[in-house]
Amino acid sequence: MKIVVVVDVGAWAVKVLVAADGRIIKKFQFPSAVGLETNGALSTFRSGNEEIIEVRPKIDGTTYRVSLRQNQQVADHSRPTPGDDFQISRAHDALLAAALHAAEVPHIDVLVIGTPVHTYLKHAENLKKWSGTVDFGLGKRILVVKTLVLPQPYGSLLAGKNERVIEREEHINHIILDVGHYSTDVLTTKGGLAVNDDRSFGIGFGTAVVYQKIADMIASDLRLPVTDLDRIEYSIRSRSQYIAHSRHFDLNGEYLQRVQAHIEVIVSDLYGRIKTTEDISSVLLTGGGSGIFERAVRKIFRSTRVCIISDPIHANARGYLIAGHSSL
Ligand SMILES: Nc1ncnc2c1ncn2[C@@H]1O[C@H](COP(=O)(O)OP(=O)(O)OP(=O)(O)O)[C@@H](O)[C@H]1O
Ligand SMILES: [Mg+2]
Repeated sequence: MKIVVVVDVGAWAVKVLVAADGRIIKKFQFPSAVGLETNGALSTFRSGNEEIIEVRPKIDGTTYRVSLRQNQQVADHSRPTPGDDFQISRAHDALLAAALHAAEVPHIDVLVIGTPVHTYLKHAENLKKWSGTVDFGLGKRILVVKTLVLPQPYGSLLAGKNERVIEREEHINHIILDVGHYSTDVLTTKGGLAVNDDRSFGIGFGTAVVYQKIADMIASDLRLPVTDLDRIEYSIRSRSQYIAHSRHFDLNGEYLQRVQAHIEVIVSDLYGRIKTTEDISSVLLTGGGSGIFERAVRKIFRSTRVCIISDPIHANARGYLIAGHSSL
């Protein structure tokens, strides 16, 4: 049986697909949040209805805690600080280790992982260290025969073509716009699946800056501090009520509207760096921030068709799977 495991380690969430002989046998996602072992007074106390699914991988002698709980309102641990070196940090390795552990396969024929576009050169070689026998002190070893490292939005390009969201013809070019939490990646094609290097890049802005702006606006309206972006994020994502300092705020209506101008500035900056869109057939919006950025993208890229891939959070992973299978 040929096993392909793909892990899209984003700064916000880790997305995992496990396939056996071409069929997906497991799909899961968990927050990109890691903690260290604690010895707090209540560290061993759990209330009766608290569901704990935690993995404790050991990386370079340090034990990390990674919670696999899905749909968390607020992550159990803190998210790693965004930065160019996330892909070579211990936090990243702990998340990847947790993903491989939870994949529950002792043998992986192809492991596919990704890096943001702007750090691909810097980190791709280093990430290939995830081949051979890997052991995270969790009582089992995993054999990884081959590791493939892709620029993250390349996954969405493959998925978009495979799912016929964008044209597959050789001579048609596309822009893949992957809006993540801390970063946004742009990948422009140069015929078929070739990447146009000059017009592919990443910036260190994503949905987190939008949540920060909203926090600043609420703080200024209230004249009180507002610092918890996770609560703002959750309320927007789940369209649930948001309360701060005992007052209700309409985030999805009023505040997302007020923050539009800021999103447009980010998108205009990207638009400028792509240089021209005259050869572009469509902009494929992907990543968890697709919905929040859609209006601004349609406005700024007004002469180009804009499409959103279905289930944009998992689109890179779906494409990684295609790449993994073709490299078997
Ligand atoms: N259903 C949803 N509605 C609105 N926003 C969502 C939804 N699901 C996720 N998001 C937002 O998408 C973002 C995460 O997207 P994604 O998983 O693509 O990022 P990432 O790949 O982990 O981050 P990065 O690309 O910065 O490494 C979060 O900011 C989250 O708030
Ligand atoms: Mg991403």
